[in-house]
Amino acid sequence: MTRTLAIANQKGGVAKTTTTASVGAALADLDVSVLVVDLDPQGCLTFSLGHDPDSLTKSVHDVLLGAHDIADVLLDTDDNITLLPATIDLAGAEALLLMRPGREYALKRALAEVAQDFDVILLDCPPSLGVLTLNGLTAADEVVVPLQCETLAHRGVGQLLRTVTEVQQITNPELKMLGAVATLFDARTTHSRDVLSDVSDRYDLPVLDPPIPRTVRFAEASASGASVLRGRKNKGATAYRELAQNLWSYWNGAPLRTFELGV
Ligand SMILES: Nc1ncnc2c1ncn2[C@@H]1O[C@H](COP(=O)(O)OP(=O)(O)OP(=O)(O)O)[C@@H](O)[C@H]1O
Ligand SMILES: [Mg+2]
Repeated sequence: MTRTLAIANQKGGVAKTTTTASVGAALADLDVSVLVVDLDPQGCLTFSLGHDPDSLTKSVHDVLLGAHDIADVLLDTDDNITLLPATIDLAGAEALLLMRPGREYALKRALAEVAQDFDVILLDCPPSLGVLTLNGLTAADEVVVPLQCETLAHRGVGQLLRTVTEVQQITNPELKMLGAVATLFDARTTHSRDVLSDVSDRYDLPVLDPPIPRTVRFAEASASGASVLRGRKNKGATAYRELAQNLWSYWNGAPLRTFELGV
């Protein structure tokens, strides 16, 4: 059975794309077959996995609009994961999809054609709650919310959770909110922990174990065309490997491990 996980938060720069690439690469290292989907017109996931969006002629845009079969658009990456890439064309998909009936189901329909080839599909949602994120949440079995552990991290979480509830009521009753992924976590101060417990309490949102520490290697990785797991060993990569293992065990029947916020 294929597991499809959406990584969503309409707040920008909270490490959605980094989490998608790193968890995907870590799962691949566990011999899991992984497809990652770039749902952001900026194409950051595509770029960070070694493909220049500006030089691609086909993308998820064509798949969503039915112009190409999904199988013809998939790309290989150095991280041993398969990529459904995005280009700036996707910015226009929003408007084009809006005119179509069943617009929230376009991705779900396309993924069904290749799902049997993958154990896990990860969906990197854009920083908005528009039709692309709705496609991601409609196609997903589960969703996680990356949260940057800084003041105001809670902003927008309520709105995201309301959107998830609406999706559950309208297009995807099976969608399950797994919880938050704590990103840019600083274990040396209590601030990150305070922010996390505030958000977790306020929205009754579990925090997946482990939190991902802030590490300078991520900036280097985005430019290198491969995930942070391919660079030198570092605590960010190690945390993402543990998170991937946590998710994979959970998908194989173990309880999901959560991070204890108590002092
Ligand atoms: N653990 C980390 N430590 C340090 N920097 C990080 C970490 N995780 C992500 N970053 C950096 O933070 C920036 C934003 O990350 P990323 O692009 O993954 O966020 P995003 O939520 O996908 O952004 P957007 O909303 O624009 O799609 C990037 O420059 C990335 O390299
Ligand atoms: Mg992103």
